[in-house]
Amino acid sequence: MEEQTQKLQERRKRVFSAIKPTGNPTLGNYLGAMKYWGGMGENYDSLFAVADLHAITVAIEPKTLRENSKRLFALLLAIGIDPERDVLFMQSHVTAHAELSWLLNNYTMFGEASRMTQFKDKSKKAPDNVNVGLFDYPVLMAADILLYQADIVPVGEDQMQHVELCRTIATRFNNRYSPTFTVPEGKVPTYGARIHSLSDPTKKMGKSEGNEDGTVFILDTPEVIMRKFKRAVTDCGAEVKAADDKPGITNLLTIYAALTGGTAESAEREFAGKSYAEFKQRVGEATVDVLRPIQQKYESYRRDDKALSELMLAGAQKAAGIARRTLEKVYKKIGFVRI
Ligand code: TRP
Repeated sequence: MEEQTQKLQERRKRVFSAIKPTGNPTLGNYLGAMKYWGGMGENYDSLFAVADLHAITVAIEPKTLRENSKRLFALLLAIGIDPERDVLFMQSHVTAHAELSWLLNNYTMFGEASRMTQFKDKSKKAPDNVNVGLFDYPVLMAADILLYQADIVPVGEDQMQHVELCRTIATRFNNRYSPTFTVPEGKVPTYGARIHSLSDPTKKMGKSEGNEDGTVFILDTPEVIMRKFKRAVTDCGAEVKAADDKPGITNLLTIYAALTGGTAESAEREFAGKSYAEFKQRVGEATVDVLRPIQQKYESYRRDDKALSELMLAGAQKAAGIARRTLEKVYKKIGFVRI
């Protein structure tokens, strides 16, 4: 019996993901990614990081970085990441990330990194701060993933290209030396992966840039949430139906379905014959209902700085134990003298 349980555990796949402490986490972040993280520990060996090292590739005030990092850590606990069962940690607390990323730089081609569309986009957005960290961002991300020998990496679609590069780097290293890294698989959640802005439904719901009216933040008060949905842009016609020429209604149906665990079709049926106004009211209420218990848990974690620090330390220690093993192997294979 015990042996059987052990075997089952050995076969459990490992999941790793991370989120940057930039901006204010949104309903889009929640429904696209974070929502799934809480329950993953039931089926997977799960590790999650607050990617604070990634946050400085774009200019950020020290106070903002500090506050955002604590906020995100507390929020990840609030959405159900279990610090006993899972590993939750702050990326900068585990020095192996910076170390491995330097090593991996030497197995990443300039041309490969140059092709990353996020680098190109961000360079265009901040032409006066096209720093080397921004260019190197996906290599650090590869280090994050490979240190933990992750099998699966849940990410938004915009990060899939980075996971592909990570696979390229891992494969190259494995071939050059001997099998060292698990080659991970990127996974975009099939539902709720893409939530758009409420004020411009042709754009992604952004967390740091643009129009605040179009973005629902996880920590918005119920009044603010209801107001944002009331003002949400709708489309021509009067039918609550998903269609290519109805991006506003389609987005709201997607949000509702993701919140309630249904599909866009079941949501359409539920709102058949209802007005846009009534529909928007209901999507707002469903959002408030889903976010309320998360906000309450968040407050209790965020209120106690000392307890939060202790959880960070415990998480970092667990993560560092795993990361060190991989990093040592890598140093040895390359030919570094170890002491
Ligand atoms: N770059 C990711 C994002 O912007 C965050 C991230 C950092 C990440 N390291 C990671 C995601 C490792 C998955 C795995 O969303």
